[in-house]
Amino acid sequence: MQQIQSDDLKGVSKTLLIPLHCCVEESKSESSSFKDEIAERFHDAIAYDWGKFDADSSQNWVTAVTTAAMNKRRVIFDEQVKNFLEEAPDGLVVNLGAGLNTRFHRLDNGRLEWIELDLPGVITFRQKLREPESKRHRMIAASVLDDDWVGEIKRYARSRVLFVAEGLLPYFTEEEHRKIFTCLAENFPGQEMLFHTIAPSLTPELAQHSLISRTKMKAEMQWGLDDSKQVSALNPKVEFVDEFSLLEGSYDLLPEPIRQKLSPAMAKQVMKIVHVRFRE
Ligand SMILES: C[S@@+](CC[C@H](N)C(=O)[O-])C[C@H]1O[C@@H](n2cnc3c(N)ncnc32)[C@H](O)[C@@H]1O
Repeated sequence: MQQIQSDDLKGVSKTLLIPLHCCVEESKSESSSFKDEIAERFHDAIAYDWGKFDADSSQNWVTAVTTAAMNKRRVIFDEQVKNFLEEAPDGLVVNLGAGLNTRFHRLDNGRLEWIELDLPGVITFRQKLREPESKRHRMIAASVLDDDWVGEIKRYARSRVLFVAEGLLPYFTEEEHRKIFTCLAENFPGQEMLFHTIAPSLTPELAQHSLISRTKMKAEMQWGLDDSKQVSALNPKVEFVDEFSLLEGSYDLLPEPIRQKLSPAMAKQVMKIVHVRFRE
């Protein structure tokens, strides 16, 4: 198959290469039982200098922390989505800012409905990768910041809907977070969401040292929750359910200057997955 040019991905959309690469590194690792052949196929089909993600000696910790957090992020999202599907095997999962995420293929139980939503350029790119098709797996080309996609989600909604936002919200301002949560809470009362957030207290260091800056991608982290329960301040219909720390267990990988600023308890709050419910 002719390789697809990664330069077709513009701005923030190029960041989808980072979780894809981490997923594939884990899938190819002999010490791991995790396997994702579709992600490996996507990776092989994209023309990109993947070596850019490798550490240079002064920045080893960035790769180590990113890899540990990304692997944990994937495992927790997989587990939480699986829990949802155990309770609602024919529920609808809506993956906001889906990128080239392959969770649908990993968790498909033959009954669920799944929608991948991303910007039009990403959906066109993904369609060129010719992934296995399923009538229960749909793509919506839209910005999550507009609300023209809501009607389409409602059309496919079952009695239970789970929204997932992995690696998406940190690129949005507080005002944009408020807009997204208000849109979801108003339109999908009783439903749930899992989202990934990065607290502002560490955002400058992460932005300075992240794989995004190393690979010169044009994306900026903007805002996130220090305290997950503050999510209700964005919209009172958003109810906190649970949170999962992504840096817990990786504290020792952080360099001394960052550890001086962050206690282990604070580090737990820095990168999280948060589970919320929209009040009825
Ligand atoms: C870091 S990637 C994460 C991809 C995927 N969720 C994963 O974890 O593999 C961020 C994704 O958010 C998407 N994105 C950014 N802004 C968006 C917007 N306004 N509407 C929809 N998707 C957006 C990008 O195109 C990109 O695919």
